[in-house]
Amino acid sequence: MSQNPRGFGDSGWLREAFLQVPREHFVPDRVWWPEPGEDGLHSLLSREERPRAWLKAIYMPGVPLITQLDDGAVPPEGRAKGAFTSSISSAGVIIELLHHLAPQPGDRVLEIGTGTGYTTALLASRVGAEGAVATVEIDADLATRARERLTTLGLPPLVVTGDGEDGYAADSPYDRIVATASVRRIPPAWLEQLCPGGVLVAPLDSPFGCDLLVHLEGDGRGAARGRVLERVEFMQVRGQREKRSYDDLGWPVEVDPESWRDLHIVVGPEGQRISQP
Ligand SMILES: C[S@@+](CC[C@H](N)C(=O)[O-])C[C@H]1O[C@@H](n2cnc3c(N)ncnc32)[C@H](O)[C@@H]1O
Repeated sequence: MSQNPRGFGDSGWLREAFLQVPREHFVPDRVWWPEPGEDGLHSLLSREERPRAWLKAIYMPGVPLITQLDDGAVPPEGRAKGAFTSSISSAGVIIELLHHLAPQPGDRVLEIGTGTGYTTALLASRVGAEGAVATVEIDADLATRARERLTTLGLPPLVVTGDGEDGYAADSPYDRIVATASVRRIPPAWLEQLCPGGVLVAPLDSPFGCDLLVHLEGDGRGAARGRVLERVEFMQVRGQREKRSYDDLGWPVEVDPESWRDLHIVVGPEGQRISQP
């Protein structure tokens, strides 16, 4: 879903993590292709029926594969339409997220939106045995499957079934928090659970018709400030699907659509404020 897929660049650790973690291990045997056909339906890629096409799709760098429609109401049995509610994020967008998150060996990391568990596995490979990764997934079936996949590979992250907007206080504070589902408003719990100087990278819904990836540095007392990194597209966290007025969400009344790169963001107990410097 990234509109700006990058290479590994100077993040050599990311290349290592991608080489260590087999992406196909995290992909269900049946997934939907993200682009609809002319009839508006998404075709189903079946590992059993077309193993090569399934594997090829998994390794296309700019392509997310859809693993759930309409919160699981649509069974993966054929061409279908519905709202995307879970996916394995494209390699391109994961590189973008993790490059800016820049987790270090030994860090404590919280991920919101486990999905398949693939990003979780990459994080675990980076932080190593001295670090710790907790990941929160709201959908109990998805959480169970991700937990099984991680365990099969011998990876230790803690997969929590719950509402990621609450973070996961039990293992806090975190050096890094990353969300792989977008929010309209940064949840206060994420900032409360960040170490002083800790980094949060998350997609924030914007008035520009896309999400903006934001990079915030926490003060350890529930506030943070930072900037916008990139235009991205993510599915929304369940509790924030409903549209809200951008005025109420701290956006300036008039925003120049060309100037999204210059935006600054301040978030704290009083809410969030996005401004042009
Ligand atoms: C784009 S998918 C994550 C993909 C994951 N990075 C991967 O590559 O497998 C977003 C996930 O966020 C989950 N989600 C939505 N709202 C949530 C919430 N409030 N708390 C935790 N997870 C949530 C969805 O169920 C979905 O699995």
